[in-house]
Amino acid sequence: MAGATALVALASSPALTAAGPSDIFQSVGDFLKSQMDKLNGAITPSKATQRNQYWNEDILKRWRPSGSQNRSPCPMLNALANYDILNYDGKNINATSVQFALENMLGLRGAMLKFLMRAPGHLAEIHAENHPDKPKNPDNIKHGIFDLKDALKHNFIEHDVSLSRERRTAADPERALNVSKKRLAKLREFAEDGMLTYNSIAKFRKHMRAEEEKDGLQPPMHFSLDNQFKAHGEAVLLLEVVGRNGKIAIDDAVYFFEHERLPPNFVPLPPSSTSDVYMIGRLVQEFSLFNTLQFLGYNSMSEKQELVQQIERELQAVPQ
Ligand code: HEM
Repeated sequence: MAGATALVALASSPALTAAGPSDIFQSVGDFLKSQMDKLNGAITPSKATQRNQYWNEDILKRWRPSGSQNRSPCPMLNALANYDILNYDGKNINATSVQFALENMLGLRGAMLKFLMRAPGHLAEIHAENHPDKPKNPDNIKHGIFDLKDALKHNFIEHDVSLSRERRTAADPERALNVSKKRLAKLREFAEDGMLTYNSIAKFRKHMRAEEEKDGLQPPMHFSLDNQFKAHGEAVLLLEVVGRNGKIAIDDAVYFFEHERLPPNFVPLPPSSTSDVYMIGRLVQEFSLFNTLQFLGYNSMSEKQELVQQIERELQAVPQ
């Protein structure tokens, strides 16, 4: 079985062989934590203590509903436009304004910021594809100029099995622009003690994936590894930036998705934190767990135990 083979490869990797196979999840976590600690040490205090001069709570009062403005399938880009930090009309957004918003409004920096800032240039190319009639201006690509709706391009970032949207279909290619109250109600059912966690999102995703697989809509559901990676990145952003420390109150999450507005108690990530490194680590850590679950269909703690026993059996079968 491909998934089990991947697990054997993971379990046999030099970084993990020191620990017994039954410690596999612990080992992955510890290994990543040690890597993250090293990286954290590399962040200089001067960089780490830079202050966010821009943000204050009054900014949150600038929110307006979007009405019929140009919007994307991303709740955060839409929210930033609703605060007029990105152009309120959702048009002619440029890379500089995205970077400003992500840094100052959300407190993102470092690796995570750099990773996200790869998007505007690509979105500018998609914008040119979407507007073959417009005169070509190479500067628009250089400056990453796009409209929010360009982010709707299917399987670029937008993907099936979303948290808040019904999936795109050939009959309704703009379906993913709209928030689905039905889906949010389902998401609520997966909260644990009123909180959304990595675990609840993984379970929700597994449930929705099965639903979308049998929905009979065209084209069929497609949730490649690439899409899973993006979906997990979005979960990390939700639970570490909108929420904090791997969780968000389900009421805050639903509020954020439904209104495309930051929860009332929102504050940007603290400037002195090493959160970007933590987030990348979390992404890797959770994504590998998520992948494992996807491959093998295991979910609860007791199922994980079974998985561990399976790994032990497989490891015993590996020639020494
Ligand atoms: C340049 C920056 C960004 C771009 C281009 C972008 C784009 C997108 C796109 C196209 C989607 C739709 C994926 C889907 O089909 O579900 C999405 C989803 C999402 N984005 Fe963003 N995003 C950006 C930054 C952020 C940031 C900074 C946050 C939060 C801090 C965020 C939070 C989310 C969340 C939570 C979802 C999942 C929505 C769902 O599953 O229903 N995004 N993003």
